[in-house]
Amino acid sequence: MNEVEELIRSKIAAEASQLQQISSYLLELGGKRIRPALCFLTARAFGKHPPEPKLIQIAAGIELIHMATLLHDDIIDKSPRRRNSDSAYLKFGLGDTLLTGDFLLVRAFSLCAQLDETIVLATERACVELTEGEILERPLSLYQASIEESLTIARKKTAALFRLACFAAAHLAKANPEIVNACSEFGESLGIAFQILDDILDVTADETLLGKPRGTDIREGKPSVVNILWLQTGSSLAAELLLSPQEMGELSAEQVERGIIELTEDNGEPVKEARKLAKHYADCALQNLEILEQSQNQSSLPELRALCDFVLTRLL
Ligand code: FPP
Ligand code: MG
Repeated sequence: MNEVEELIRSKIAAEASQLQQISSYLLELGGKRIRPALCFLTARAFGKHPPEPKLIQIAAGIELIHMATLLHDDIIDKSPRRRNSDSAYLKFGLGDTLLTGDFLLVRAFSLCAQLDETIVLATERACVELTEGEILERPLSLYQASIEESLTIARKKTAALFRLACFAAAHLAKANPEIVNACSEFGESLGIAFQILDDILDVTADETLLGKPRGTDIREGKPSVVNILWLQTGSSLAAELLLSPQEMGELSAEQVERGIIELTEDNGEPVKEARKLAKHYADCALQNLEILEQSQNQSSLPELRALCDFVLTRLL
């Protein structure tokens, strides 16, 4: 993982100091580095350890893409907080943060472009899906999204990079197409479970662990899995908070708190249902691991299994 960190650091060097400063700021805020971890653990399942240079390149490329999306996402969401700190958007302003996102994306592609065409095309596809996921994610007051639409958004905005990480590792290991597909499906299902947990943690997590205020998805009226399941219970509070036209203005902190209380008291139904859904996708991920397991002697499958458990039990 140190090699990924070093490669990222070398790629964020820039003549314009603002680009480097904002990139370093985001990098130092930390993060789980789950996407590079997925690259390495999948490669280990094929006995590829230590990681070859190409794998380190794609792992760093994927993390750089992820960093670019976080910068752009905080602009779109007007989020002041990220990982317990001011967001880059708040600290450095919209213009410079936007440009740093562009910069990181180009740096990422300069790494991916050194790999074969299949990986370049898969990376392009994942980036298109990221933008599609983000653009589909309109406030619930503008359209009544179904749970299927919410899951499509999760698949595109989050699972696309998880899928790419696992796909690239299996492809570089020269696994046969059926196994490459099982790895990709593993990554995608895990990514969807991860996003559902994100939606749950938005209302259940301790704010210090979450690194931002709770209830952001309520405040922004997002078509998150939890919000849609909440609306489906027929709750009048859910309709009042999530479907009010935007012209009515922002929700107050007190309104958001009422929402959180209803969603979490007595282990609220929407949260319980969302957990079931996350478990379903984690199980789908595990089924794909079984295909892998049957294919050859696998040394790091326990770690990939542990990653599924981590996604379901994580606190942040
Ligand atoms: C976070 O969601 C957002 C994403 C995972 C995807 C963001 C994608 C874009 C901004 C498209 C731009 C694409 C490229 C290739 C640069 P969230 O707001 O639910 O999570 P948060 O709580 O971390 O903000
Ligand atoms: Mg956001």
